[in-house]
Amino acid sequence: MDKRRDKLNKKCSNLKLNNKEIKNLEFSKSEKSIQNCYSTWGKRYYSDYYQSNKAYPPVHTEIIKELLKAENPNSLLDGGCGPASMLRDLSDLGIDLYGFDLTTEMINEAKNIFKEIKLPLNRLWQGSVLNADDFISSPDGKKNFDAAICFGVLPHILKGQEEIVFDNFINVLNSGSIFAIEARNELFSLFSLNRYSKDFFMDKLISENLYTSSEFNYEFVSKTLDNYFDSNLPPLRKGYENELGYDEVTSRLHNPFELCELAKSKGLVDLEILFYHYHALPPLFENKENKKLYREKSLDIENPRDWRGHFLASAFILKGRKV
Ligand SMILES: C[S@@+](CC[C@H](N)C(=O)[O-])C[C@H]1O[C@@H](n2cnc3c(N)ncnc32)[C@H](O)[C@@H]1O
Repeated sequence: MDKRRDKLNKKCSNLKLNNKEIKNLEFSKSEKSIQNCYSTWGKRYYSDYYQSNKAYPPVHTEIIKELLKAENPNSLLDGGCGPASMLRDLSDLGIDLYGFDLTTEMINEAKNIFKEIKLPLNRLWQGSVLNADDFISSPDGKKNFDAAICFGVLPHILKGQEEIVFDNFINVLNSGSIFAIEARNELFSLFSLNRYSKDFFMDKLISENLYTSSEFNYEFVSKTLDNYFDSNLPPLRKGYENELGYDEVTSRLHNPFELCELAKSKGLVDLEILFYHYHALPPLFENKENKKLYREKSLDIENPRDWRGHFLASAFILKGRKV
């Protein structure tokens, strides 16, 4: 990431661009690679991640359903809705459903699904959660919502841009409405014992200042930790065809404590962190033979409000309410 920024900075200084223009360039480059990554997933995303036996069951949909049932909103906006993967499963709640997504192929598939389940197509459009105007571009003219969700998008947002995402969602929510945003849990790195653990130790827990000392320099600490964590796992995810894979584009983890602070600073109240996709044991225990049992035991301990979720769950939903 830093190397990429250096390269971009060099290019930009030749072009005499200021910092804001550099950021915008970095931004649009990142969005293009994300669109490229998702361009071939439109048709298969739902069957791969919501229906396949290979994927962990979509426990997050149930959590959202419960939240929505308790709130009973008239309208819901899903920013980064993909192929209406969540929206189609929420269509029995009697809520007016709206969604937009960055990737053309995702929105095309979402429209196919809305057509199939007889929902209005003018409640879907293409847009980015980083662009405030896209939130008020629903073809049917709707500009304010009673609830909003954002799933699978935050990992693709560059560091420091989360604030824009929160501002944009909060701006279009009516007061008293809830916002639920999903992130991959950085703290799970303390349980996973793999390359995520090493990165978390190296980049988040150990002070940068330490690496300037000769005894504990970066290479030494890195090599030593390699003896304790399997830095080759999990394998990097590649694209299906010629497009970029999930781990080849921005795909970040987030710290629930930090995200909660951000939500607080944006004035959200009734904050809750809801954990999901638990792991009964560190992932290195899972293999072809015991996959089913590992899955069953992990599903057994799913509990969005268990403190263990901070470490055992690989994802969380931050829920807050606009005052
Ligand atoms: C992991 S998929 C999740 C899809 C859906 N929300 C779900 O949970 O099933 C991520 C989606 O986010 C979209 N996306 C990525 N960056 C985005 C952005 N800046 N604005 C809107 N959508 C974005 C991608 O195109 C992709 O469809």
